[in-house]
Amino acid sequence: MTLRSVVTGVGGHLPDQIVTNHDLAKFVDTSDEWITERTGIRQRRKAKDGEFTSDIAVEAARKALAAAGRTPDDVDLIVVATTTGDLTFPACATIVQRKLGCPVGVAFDVQAVCSGFVYALSVADGFVARNRSKCCLVIGAETMTRLMDWEDRGTCVLFGDGAGAVVLEPMEGAGTTADRGLLGFALRADGTKQDLLYVDGGVSTGKTGYLRMQGNQVFRHAVVNISEAINMAAADAGIEVSEVDWFIPHQANLRILQGVAHRCGIAEEKVITTVAEHANTSAASIPLALDAAVQDGRIKKGDLLLLEAMGGGLTWGACVVRL
Ligand code: COA
Repeated sequence: MTLRSVVTGVGGHLPDQIVTNHDLAKFVDTSDEWITERTGIRQRRKAKDGEFTSDIAVEAARKALAAAGRTPDDVDLIVVATTTGDLTFPACATIVQRKLGCPVGVAFDVQAVCSGFVYALSVADGFVARNRSKCCLVIGAETMTRLMDWEDRGTCVLFGDGAGAVVLEPMEGAGTTADRGLLGFALRADGTKQDLLYVDGGVSTGKTGYLRMQGNQVFRHAVVNISEAINMAAADAGIEVSEVDWFIPHQANLRILQGVAHRCGIAEEKVITTVAEHANTSAASIPLALDAAVQDGRIKKGDLLLLEAMGGGLTWGACVVRL
């Protein structure tokens, strides 16, 4: 028998305010046509004044707990994947713990930018699959619009705000790929590529800073790196990529995720895409896309899922999950 970290509930939350490409074109030198053609993005959500990453994380967490039939009292571990926590410290996870009203437990953030959710799942698996947590929330939550330089058309059109969450619980499996739970991972980082995607602020500067990116360079690395991680995660899980029921990529750019699917031989109809409506919500994009496809009935219990992401660092990774 093998103890597995099983996803027992999924939830998502988006801020109310919708910003379309046409809205952006009113104050940035861009167009709906350019953004749609290059990225597939049509709109994004934007948190309102006073609405912080912890607030949207809490909403997503409540929905995930309800879906799992659990309450905040059950939660003993909270891992928040975010780059846009409310404050430098405390961790967003401890703010979420307080706002949700969870009992004393373990709470911390994982900062791997857009790869954060995949990283956080693997970290949480280290607790849950060793029976160190009975009910864990893994949340990807971001207010990326707060890191935008609204005069930089190369970046400000790409990102949005949102949060997605899953509940992980330990369950015995047979130790085969038919088990429910997290079956395999591959995580990578290359700090020498920092200049391609970073924020020019932090404690070293005394300012929050803005996201800076060499978009075409990031694009060049994305398809190759992610495809490599997918094959490594599939090997770690002991599956063939062709067995996967659903591909849930990080929603950065439609052309990147289609390129990865093509390179890895994943059929178009298996690809979950929310980039048109959500834009790039960094660590929130995978759980938000998962939630969208669970809510509309495409993804069902028992389905084999492949998740992947790449982000600042550079960091990248993939994981295989049977829901
Ligand atoms: N509207 C109109 N024109 C724009 C624009 C915008 N929002 N942003 C950039 N441009 C212009 C550039 O100024 C440039 O003009 P020039 O040729 O006159 O100098 C032209 O479009 C081409 O710029 P380039 O950056 O080479 O475009 P691209 O084809 O690489 O597309 C991205 C830009 C950002 C869409 C693309 O590189 C991309 O998606 N990269 C990956 C980014 C990403 O996903 N990052 C997150 C990873 S987690």
